Amino acid sequence: PRQLVTGPVATMDWPALRAAVAACTACSLCESRTQTVFGVGHQRAHWMIVGEAPGEQEDLRGEPFVGKAGQLLDNMLAAIGVSRQAAEGDDPARRVYIANVLKCRPPANRNPQPEEVARCAPFLQRQIELVQPRIILAMGRFAVESLLHTSDAIGKLRGRVHRVAGVPTIVSYHPAYLLRSPLEKARAWDDLCLALQTLG
Ligand code: URA
Repeated sequence: PRQLVTGPVATMDWPALRAAVAACTACSLCESRTQTVFGVGHQRAHWMIVGEAPGEQEDLRGEPFVGKAGQLLDNMLAAIGVSRQAAEGDDPARRVYIANVLKCRPPANRNPQPEEVARCAPFLQRQIELVQPRIILAMGRFAVESLLHTSDAIGKLRGRVHRVAGVPTIVSYHPAYLLRSPLEKARAWDDLCLALQTLG
């Protein structure tokens, strides 16, 4: 991908980036978190999923999408043969890297605030540069705002291919929203199919 990050984060490798996130005190979320939630999956994957922020389970376990929304996400990915457990020997098209816009849980799972998103953005941008995914799935409003810099509704943005630093990016609903609005799962499935088709 084209370069996304500027500033000190721009030259960090994986260990340096992980350490910088773990030590981050750039916003007040550092005061309420149990731990930071960096990302999970393969560091060289064709798929990259971007969610919103850690919830209660993620904050406790230090891994993204391990609660109910995460189970749904894992099931959706399994349906297209993609797994966060896919390893080195596996086809890179089955590998995924999963990260959030925010690396710290907002208190009581409130929405991320613009300042928090802005402070945390270089970490996600550097993760994208290091993974070099072939497709990004932006799930939910905050992933879309952070990556595509628009506050247009998901319903308006989905169904076509966007670009983030040159990487094809598909917009879809957040899995937690799908749990509340199961009828939208059909649309989310269409979005996954568009992503598969774009990956070729
Ligand atoms: N929702 C998210 O957006 N990310 C997580 O890691 C868990 C729930």
